[in-house]
Amino acid sequence: MCGIIGYLGDKNASKILIDGLKKLEYRGYDSAGIAVVANDGIKCLKSKGRVADLEKKLLEDPIEGSFGIGHTRWATHGIPSEINAHPHLDCKKQIAVVHNGIIENYNSLKDLLIKEGHKFVSETDTEVISHLIEKFYAGNLEEATIKALKLVEGTFGLAIISKFERKIVAARRGSPLVVGIGDSEKIIASDVVPILSHTKKVVYLKDNEMAIITDKDFRIESLDGKEVEKKVEEIKWDVGQIEKKGFKYFMLKEIFEQPEAIANTLRGRVKDGKIKLTVDFDANSIKRITILACGTSWHSALIGKYFIEKISGIPTEVDYASEFRYRDPIIRKDDLAVVISQSGETADTLAALREAKKFGAKTLGIINVVGSTIAREVDSGIYLHAGPEIGVASTKAFTCQITALLLLALSLAEKRGLRIEQDVVDELLSAPQKIKKILGSLEDIKKMAEKFKDSRDFLYLGRGLNFPVALEGALKLKEISYIHAEGYPAAEMKHGPIALIDENMPVLFIVPKDNTYEKIISNMEEVKARGGKIIAVVSEDDKKISKLTENIIKVPPCHQYLTPLINVIPLQLLAYYVADLKGINVDKPRNLAKSVTVE
Ligand code: F6R
Repeated sequence: MCGIIGYLGDKNASKILIDGLKKLEYRGYDSAGIAVVANDGIKCLKSKGRVADLEKKLLEDPIEGSFGIGHTRWATHGIPSEINAHPHLDCKKQIAVVHNGIIENYNSLKDLLIKEGHKFVSETDTEVISHLIEKFYAGNLEEATIKALKLVEGTFGLAIISKFERKIVAARRGSPLVVGIGDSEKIIASDVVPILSHTKKVVYLKDNEMAIITDKDFRIESLDGKEVEKKVEEIKWDVGQIEKKGFKYFMLKEIFEQPEAIANTLRGRVKDGKIKLTVDFDANSIKRITILACGTSWHSALIGKYFIEKISGIPTEVDYASEFRYRDPIIRKDDLAVVISQSGETADTLAALREAKKFGAKTLGIINVVGSTIAREVDSGIYLHAGPEIGVASTKAFTCQITALLLLALSLAEKRGLRIEQDVVDELLSAPQKIKKILGSLEDIKKMAEKFKDSRDFLYLGRGLNFPVALEGALKLKEISYIHAEGYPAAEMKHGPIALIDENMPVLFIVPKDNTYEKIISNMEEVKARGGKIIAVVSEDDKKISKLTENIIKVPPCHQYLTPLINVIPLQLLAYYVADLKGINVDKPRNLAKSVTVE
């Protein structure tokens, strides 16, 4: 949530901060602002809306200066407005702060500071930090920050400047921060995306660490003032990977990247028909698996449960990460907690991971962003290698997660001495080709989008492995097109949702040729009898479904374990085209942020 950027170097800071904020906009975008130290003190510029609005203001009122901080906001405290946008200043406008996270005790701190004479202008929790630092400032920004943060309860990623010292102080507890080390410049940001165009050398801050960045050098200290040794790491992604490459939106580009992304998840992990996964636990000692995730990653977790139980025989549960730690879960030492997260920064998932560790469970992460907080805290992990996912609606991470979960299930089975079906392994390797085929003929999907774009509601139905795909299809549609959509197990329809069906209700059925095929046909008949409009995603070799509906989307036939990977592609595309036809900015749907770092 929210994006932080800071720059200290030899160039015009305001321009670099704006460029960085544009790249961070996917983290939150209801308002934005920058603060730069100019000759006559801190100059702060803020705007409600997109970074582009802020940029327009800057063109009218340019700021000169070579160090400063910036922020793109996703509101938690106080409405999206110019006043509530970051940076937040102290009373004398000598200190500026940008913040991700939530200050839980801000009300009591605010009361205390008001009693001492501080004047607040915003409704935000963040503003208490600039005033606290002002209170403690005696010529050294990091010392004042340490004193201020001792009083703060909650989570933060912070970048702070003062007009008196040429430095940026950044501190982290629960909200990610990375320092980029260039030749004549340093950049601090909430993720590596805006850093990449400057340098590939980075240092990741851990919780309760602080970076002090000056022209000469940078230091990392713990929040109790002790020096910390840090390794400078090299980022492997390149700038090209985070550009749109001719696609209208990142989401569409990322949908099209799926064949390559899945191939990357598989690379080096299947050899001579055997699965090569290095994990840091004894598969034979695992009695139970709990998978923890949120949103789209939770949908892949549901598919993972199916794979793991069916292929490796280990009882597996799936929990919403946000529910897990509040329900006093029973976790034992011989449990394996698998956490799934594209960003590796989702606050609920991180909290669930820490809860599982508290009970001594072994942990495994299925993560995309290398070096992210969750990736660092798990005992062992499977990186997706999907490349950066910028579109707010997750697409390639989902299919790569399914791929990784199938690899995990096969690997657990092998390690437990079970025979694995060789045709599953062979089919897995052919998944990228099959997805390419779907991406090669989009006409039917575009036709469906045109036909149903004005619907008010949608029902997505699937069974077995394709029930989570129905959930995912419905989530994609609602988050980017704002059409109400629900996913259901097809057989559950008759226990309630069937009451919704009339001639205005499109019902999308996922109809793979598996053991549920005939049953799904009966469910389709039930919808047809009530006048519902059926859309069906079917296998190319299907002969029956065209008798039930003319709205057919064909996908290549495949092994039943591969069906979620294949069937979700048209659903992603349908959601994309509906949203685009409605004129919605697909990469920046309202109220959403890419990385949800608040609980
Ligand atoms: C939906 C979407 C979200 C995320 C969820 C978890 O398109 O992107 O539902 O899946 O916020 O995010 P990660 O996987 O980063 O933990």
